[in-house]
Amino acid sequence: KCPSLQLIPVIDSTNQYLLDRVGAMPKGACCLAEYQQAGRGRRGRQWLSPFGSNLYLSMYWRLDAGIAAAMGLSLVVGVAIAEALESLGADGIRVKWPNDLYYQDRKLAGILVEMSGQTGEAAHLVIGMGINIAMPESEGEAIEQSWTNLTEACDTLPDRNTLAATLINRLYDALSDYEESGMDGFATRWNRLDNFLDRPVKLLMGNRVVEGIARGINSQGALLLETEEGVTPYLGGEISLRGC
Ligand code: ATP
Ligand code: BTN
Repeated sequence: KCPSLQLIPVIDSTNQYLLDRVGAMPKGACCLAEYQQAGRGRRGRQWLSPFGSNLYLSMYWRLDAGIAAAMGLSLVVGVAIAEALESLGADGIRVKWPNDLYYQDRKLAGILVEMSGQTGEAAHLVIGMGINIAMPESEGEAIEQSWTNLTEACDTLPDRNTLAATLINRLYDALSDYEESGMDGFATRWNRLDNFLDRPVKLLMGNRVVEGIARGINSQGALLLETEEGVTPYLGGEISLRGC
Protein backbone atom coordinates (compact mmCIF):
# COMPACT_ATOMS: atom_id res chain seq x y z
CA LYS A 1 0.00 0.00 0.00
CA CYS A 2 2.89 2.28 0.69
CA PRO A 3 3.67 4.33 -2.47
CA SER A 4 7.30 4.94 -1.52
CA LEU A 5 9.59 3.33 1.04
CA GLN A 6 13.01 4.69 1.91
CA LEU A 7 15.19 2.13 3.71
CA ILE A 8 17.99 4.01 5.42
CA PRO A 9 20.39 2.17 7.72
CA VAL A 10 21.61 5.18 9.72
CA ILE A 11 19.66 8.41 10.07
CA ASP A 12 19.16 11.25 12.56
CA SER A 13 15.39 10.65 12.84
CA THR A 14 12.95 8.98 10.44
CA ASN A 15 10.38 11.65 11.39
CA GLN A 16 12.83 14.42 10.53
CA TYR A 17 13.67 12.75 7.20
CA LEU A 18 10.03 12.93 6.09
CA LEU A 19 9.39 16.36 7.62
CA ASP A 20 12.25 17.69 5.48
CA ARG A 21 10.63 16.26 2.35
CA VAL A 22 6.98 17.16 2.77
CA GLY A 23 5.70 18.28 -0.63
CA ALA A 24 8.09 15.95 -2.46
CA MET A 25 6.51 12.72 -1.21
CA PRO A 26 3.17 11.05 -1.87
CA LYS A 27 0.73 10.45 0.96
CA GLY A 28 1.65 7.22 2.71
CA ALA A 29 5.38 7.50 1.93
CA CYS A 30 7.48 5.72 4.56
CA CYS A 31 10.97 5.83 5.96
CA LEU A 32 12.43 2.86 7.84
CA ALA A 33 15.79 2.89 9.63
CA GLU A 34 18.02 0.52 11.61
CA TYR A 35 19.61 3.17 13.79
CA GLN A 36 18.67 6.72 14.74
CA GLN A 37 21.31 9.16 15.95
CA ALA A 38 18.70 11.62 17.21
CA GLY A 39 15.50 9.64 17.73
CA ARG A 40 12.98 11.74 19.61
CA GLY A 41 9.80 11.43 21.65
CA ARG A 42 7.21 13.94 22.76
CA ARG A 43 8.31 17.38 23.91
CA GLY A 44 11.90 16.91 22.76
CA ARG A 45 12.54 13.80 24.85
CA GLN A 46 15.06 11.30 23.57
CA TRP A 47 14.02 8.02 21.98
CA LEU A 48 16.80 5.50 22.42
CA SER A 49 17.41 3.96 19.02
CA PRO A 50 20.30 1.47 19.07
CA PHE A 51 21.45 -0.32 15.93
CA GLY A 52 19.82 -3.48 14.69
CA SER A 53 17.57 -4.47 17.55
CA ASN A 54 14.48 -2.26 17.14
CA LEU A 55 12.21 -0.79 14.49
CA TYR A 56 12.05 2.92 13.63
CA LEU A 57 9.35 3.74 11.10
CA SER A 58 7.62 6.93 9.92
CA MET A 59 4.82 7.64 7.45
CA TYR A 60 3.81 10.91 5.82
CA TRP A 61 0.08 11.67 5.82
CA ARG A 62 -1.84 14.62 4.44
CA LEU A 63 -4.96 15.08 6.53
CA ASP A 64 -7.49 16.99 4.47
CA ALA A 65 -9.79 17.46 7.47
CA GLY A 66 -7.11 19.69 9.01
CA ILE A 67 -5.23 19.98 12.25
CA ALA A 68 -8.24 19.63 14.56
CA ALA A 69 -8.58 16.03 13.36
CA ALA A 70 -4.91 15.33 14.16
CA MET A 71 -5.68 15.17 17.90
CA GLY A 72 -6.94 11.60 17.71
CA LEU A 73 -4.21 10.32 15.44
CA SER A 74 -1.86 8.81 17.99
CA LEU A 75 -4.81 6.81 19.38
CA VAL A 76 -5.71 5.52 15.92
CA VAL A 77 -2.07 4.63 15.27
CA GLY A 78 -1.83 2.88 18.65
CA VAL A 79 -4.79 0.67 17.72
CA ALA A 80 -3.25 -0.06 14.31
CA ILE A 81 0.09 -1.11 15.85
CA ALA A 82 -1.46 -3.22 18.61
CA GLU A 83 -3.75 -5.02 16.14
CA ALA A 84 -0.85 -5.53 13.72
CA LEU A 85 1.25 -7.11 16.46
CA GLU A 86 -1.69 -9.28 17.56
CA SER A 87 -2.14 -10.48 13.97
CA LEU A 88 1.51 -11.59 14.05
CA GLY A 89 1.02 -13.67 17.19
CA ALA A 90 1.81 -11.23 19.99
CA ASP A 91 -0.47 -11.63 22.97
CA GLY A 92 -1.30 -9.01 25.61
CA ILE A 93 -0.25 -5.83 23.79
CA ARG A 94 -1.94 -2.78 25.35
CA VAL A 95 -2.26 0.94 24.67
CA LYS A 96 -1.57 3.80 27.05
CA TRP A 97 -3.16 7.18 26.46
CA PRO A 98 -2.18 9.10 24.44
CA ASN A 99 0.82 7.70 22.55
CA ASP A 100 2.39 4.54 23.97
CA LEU A 101 2.12 0.77 23.66
CA TYR A 102 2.63 -1.41 26.68
CA TYR A 103 3.23 -5.04 27.40
CA GLN A 104 2.84 -6.27 30.99
CA ASP A 105 2.89 -2.71 32.35
CA ARG A 106 6.11 -1.84 30.56
CA LYS A 107 6.69 0.48 27.63
CA LEU A 108 7.09 -1.46 24.39
CA ALA A 109 6.66 1.28 21.78
CA GLY A 110 6.05 4.99 21.36
CA ILE A 111 4.25 7.07 18.76
CA LEU A 112 5.17 10.60 17.72
CA VAL A 113 2.89 12.66 15.45
CA GLU A 114 4.47 15.87 14.14
CA MET A 115 3.09 18.51 11.80
CA SER A 116 5.16 20.21 9.15
CA GLY A 117 2.59 22.80 8.08
CA GLN A 118 -0.73 23.36 6.40
CA THR A 119 -1.89 23.90 2.83
CA GLY A 120 -5.26 25.57 3.10
CA GLU A 121 -7.24 23.31 5.39
CA ALA A 122 -5.00 20.27 4.92
CA ALA A 123 -2.42 19.38 7.57
CA HIS A 124 0.88 17.72 6.61
CA LEU A 125 1.73 15.17 9.27
CA VAL A 126 4.50 12.72 9.95
CA ILE A 127 3.63 9.75 12.10
CA GLY A 128 6.55 7.94 13.68
CA MET A 129 6.75 4.78 15.71
CA GLY A 130 9.58 3.18 17.62
CA ILE A 131 9.04 -0.44 18.59
CA ASN A 132 11.48 -2.32 20.80
CA ILE A 133 12.06 -5.73 19.34
CA ALA A 134 15.11 -7.18 21.05
CA MET A 135 16.92 -4.24 22.66
CA PRO A 136 19.65 -5.57 24.99
CA GLU A 137 19.29 -4.55 28.65
CA SER A 138 22.59 -2.69 28.46
CA GLU A 139 21.37 -0.44 25.60
CA GLY A 140 18.28 0.64 27.54
CA GLU A 141 19.99 1.50 30.81
CA ALA A 142 19.35 5.23 30.35
CA ILE A 143 15.56 4.76 30.12
CA GLU A 144 14.08 6.00 33.38
CA GLN A 145 10.88 3.95 33.16
CA SER A 146 10.08 0.24 32.83
CA TRP A 147 10.40 -0.93 29.24
CA THR A 148 10.25 -4.20 27.36
CA ASN A 149 10.78 -5.88 23.98
CA LEU A 150 8.47 -7.59 21.49
CA THR A 151 10.41 -10.83 22.05
CA GLU A 152 8.68 -11.02 25.45
CA ALA A 153 5.20 -10.90 23.87
CA CYS A 154 5.76 -13.43 21.07
CA ASP A 155 6.49 -17.14 21.14
CA THR A 156 8.08 -16.74 17.72
CA LEU A 157 9.24 -13.32 16.64
CA PRO A 158 8.00 -12.36 13.13
CA ASP A 159 10.81 -11.60 10.69
CA ARG A 160 11.64 -7.94 10.22
CA ASN A 161 10.23 -7.63 6.69
CA THR A 162 6.91 -9.19 7.66
CA LEU A 163 6.71 -6.96 10.71
CA ALA A 164 7.44 -3.78 8.76
CA ALA A 165 5.06 -4.65 5.91
CA THR A 166 2.23 -5.56 8.30
CA LEU A 167 2.68 -2.35 10.27
CA ILE A 168 2.75 -0.21 7.14
CA ASN A 169 -0.39 -1.82 5.69
CA ARG A 170 -2.32 -1.61 8.96
CA LEU A 171 -1.24 1.99 9.48
CA TYR A 172 -2.27 2.98 5.97
CA ASP A 173 -5.68 1.30 6.39
CA ALA A 174 -6.25 2.84 9.82
CA LEU A 175 -5.42 6.35 8.61
CA SER A 176 -7.69 5.93 5.58
CA ASP A 177 -10.54 4.71 7.81
CA TYR A 178 -9.99 7.55 10.26
CA GLU A 179 -10.16 10.06 7.44
CA GLU A 180 -13.39 8.61 6.19
CA SER A 181 -15.21 7.85 9.44
CA GLY A 182 -13.40 9.65 12.30
CA MET A 183 -12.71 8.32 15.81
CA ASP A 184 -16.02 6.53 16.30
CA GLY A 185 -15.06 2.94 15.53
CA PHE A 186 -11.56 3.41 16.93
CA ALA A 187 -12.68 4.41 20.42
CA THR A 188 -14.23 0.95 20.97
CA ARG A 189 -11.14 -0.76 19.57
CA TRP A 190 -8.87 1.41 21.72
CA ASN A 191 -10.86 0.70 24.89
CA ARG A 192 -10.51 -3.06 24.36
CA LEU A 193 -6.75 -2.61 24.45
CA ASP A 194 -6.53 -0.04 27.28
CA ASN A 195 -3.72 -0.90 29.71
CA PHE A 196 -5.21 1.24 32.48
CA LEU A 197 -8.94 0.62 32.09
CA ASP A 198 -10.62 0.76 35.52
CA ARG A 199 -7.27 1.23 37.23
CA PRO A 200 -6.12 4.10 39.49
CA VAL A 201 -4.00 6.63 37.59
CA LYS A 202 -2.76 10.18 37.86
CA LEU A 203 -2.68 12.81 35.16
CA LEU A 204 0.27 15.18 35.17
CA MET A 205 -0.48 18.58 33.63
CA GLY A 206 2.41 20.94 34.27
CA ASN A 207 2.33 21.51 38.03
CA ARG A 208 -1.14 20.08 38.38
CA VAL A 209 -1.80 16.44 39.25
CA VAL A 210 -5.26 14.84 39.23
CA GLU A 211 -5.84 11.33 40.54
CA GLY A 212 -8.74 9.09 39.68
CA ILE A 213 -9.83 5.90 37.97
CA ALA A 214 -9.23 5.62 34.21
CA ARG A 215 -12.47 4.84 32.35
CA GLY A 216 -11.18 4.59 28.79
CA ILE A 217 -11.69 7.18 26.06
CA ASN A 218 -14.80 8.80 24.58
CA SER A 219 -15.63 9.13 20.88
CA GLN A 220 -13.48 12.29 20.63
CA GLY A 221 -10.43 10.44 21.99
CA ALA A 222 -10.54 12.26 25.34
CA LEU A 223 -9.36 10.27 28.35
CA LEU A 224 -12.16 9.76 30.88
CA LEU A 225 -11.07 10.15 34.49
CA GLU A 226 -13.45 9.36 37.31
CA THR A 227 -13.00 11.25 40.58
CA GLU A 228 -15.37 12.08 43.45
CA GLU A 229 -16.69 14.91 41.29
CA GLY A 230 -17.73 12.54 38.50
CA VAL A 231 -16.23 11.64 35.13
CA THR A 232 -14.19 14.34 33.36
CA PRO A 233 -12.89 14.11 29.77
CA TYR A 234 -9.26 15.21 29.22
CA LEU A 235 -8.02 16.06 25.76
CA GLY A 236 -4.74 17.61 24.63
CA GLY A 237 -1.07 16.96 24.14
CA GLU A 238 0.46 18.30 27.34
CA ILE A 239 -0.95 15.63 29.63
CA SER A 240 0.97 12.59 30.86
CA LEU A 241 -0.73 9.57 32.39
CA ARG A 242 0.91 7.45 35.10
CA GLY A 243 -0.32 4.37 36.91
CA CYS A 244 -0.64 4.77 40.72
P1 ATP B 1 4.11 10.62 28.24
O1 ATP B 1 3.11 9.89 29.08
O2 ATP B 1 4.13 12.07 28.48
O3 ATP B 1 4.05 10.26 26.81
P2 ATP B 1 6.71 9.32 28.41
O4 ATP B 1 7.68 9.30 29.56
O5 ATP B 1 6.30 8.02 27.85
O6 ATP B 1 5.48 10.17 28.89
P3 ATP B 1 7.43 10.17 25.79
O7 ATP B 1 7.86 11.48 25.28
O8 ATP B 1 6.15 9.57 25.28
O9 ATP B 1 7.36 10.24 27.35
O10 ATP B 1 8.57 9.12 25.48
C1 ATP B 1 9.92 9.43 25.72
C2 ATP B 1 10.38 8.65 26.92
O11 ATP B 1 10.35 7.26 26.61
C3 ATP B 1 11.82 8.92 27.32
O12 ATP B 1 11.91 10.01 28.19
C4 ATP B 1 12.23 7.60 27.99
O13 ATP B 1 11.79 7.56 29.32
C5 ATP B 1 11.42 6.57 27.25
N1 ATP B 1 12.19 5.89 26.19
C6 ATP B 1 13.17 6.36 25.39
N2 ATP B 1 13.59 5.43 24.52
C7 ATP B 1 12.85 4.33 24.77
C8 ATP B 1 12.81 3.04 24.20
N3 ATP B 1 13.57 2.67 23.17
N4 ATP B 1 11.93 2.17 24.74
C9 ATP B 1 11.12 2.50 25.76
N5 ATP B 1 11.11 3.71 26.33
C10 ATP B 1 11.97 4.62 25.83
C1 BTN C 1 7.25 8.68 22.50
O1 BTN C 1 6.98 7.69 23.19
O2 BTN C 1 7.39 9.81 22.96
C2 BTN C 1 7.33 8.56 21.03
C3 BTN C 1 8.59 7.93 20.53
C4 BTN C 1 8.59 7.88 19.02
C5 BTN C 1 9.85 7.29 18.46
C6 BTN C 1 9.79 7.13 16.96
S1 BTN C 1 11.13 6.18 16.32
C7 BTN C 1 10.67 6.63 14.68
C8 BTN C 1 10.30 8.10 14.73
N1 BTN C 1 11.47 8.94 14.61
C9 BTN C 1 11.70 9.65 15.72
O3 BTN C 1 12.65 10.44 15.88
N2 BTN C 1 10.75 9.39 16.64
C10 BTN C 1 9.80 8.43 16.15
